[in-house]
Amino acid sequence: MKIIEAKDYQDLSKIAADYIIKKVCTFPELKLGLATGGTPIGIYSNLITDHQKNGTSYQGVTTFNLDEYVGLSGDHPKSYRYYMNHNLFDHIDIQKNNTFVPLGDVDDIQRECTTYENLLQEHGGIDLQILGIGNNGHVGFNEPGTSFDSETHVVQLTPSTRKANARFFSSLEEVPTQAITMGISTIMQSKEILLLISGEQKKDALNRLLTGNIDKNFPASVLKNHPNVTIIADTAAFAGSKVHS
Ligand code: GLP
Repeated sequence: MKIIEAKDYQDLSKIAADYIIKKVCTFPELKLGLATGGTPIGIYSNLITDHQKNGTSYQGVTTFNLDEYVGLSGDHPKSYRYYMNHNLFDHIDIQKNNTFVPLGDVDDIQRECTTYENLLQEHGGIDLQILGIGNNGHVGFNEPGTSFDSETHVVQLTPSTRKANARFFSSLEEVPTQAITMGISTIMQSKEILLLISGEQKKDALNRLLTGNIDKNFPASVLKNHPNVTIIADTAAFAGSKVHS
């Protein structure tokens, strides 16, 4: 794994955005995997500014999001589809029908898992996947214990993940209990992965990732088996890393 240390969140967002912009300019038909949560917001905002200033075009780009809450429709303000439209897609020239987020409000959620997995295969897989990390090492919504062979599936969210994400909702009770997520095997099939880690609250997760073993109880550790991963982490996140002092 290649490691880049950013000064702070702004720096991390700029470095990651520049990396994505360069890829989009080099490969206008890039298949880009996207993440939600607090961490990528600054990246998306940099992509929008660059699009407005420099005209970087996303006309040929196709995006695939990692996950979605079960039970929320795309127009629900807390859904990840809404988040993506609001924080990125509505402000760049991407074709909306080339943006894919799993559907959380379908009758047959198991069928949606298969459909989403097939969709990824039909498009030839993801070239560059953006990833965040949960405090417990989750990637996408793959919670500790998830099989490394997993494909897109429905998960029961852990209390710690629901608590961490409650900040986006009015109350903890409002946070859905299930999500649909790309599996670990799905994520690992991406040709390249950019993992973003920001803030003091992620220092234990980064430390465990850098120093720990590959262990399904810490899902992000599987990334050590991937041939092309770059971690961009800021100084605050590195604070807990023994290897980095
Ligand atoms: C969420 C998302 C993940 C995200 C992670 C970290 O639950 N499903 O894709 O990477 O948690 O989020 P944040 O960036 O807000 O810390």
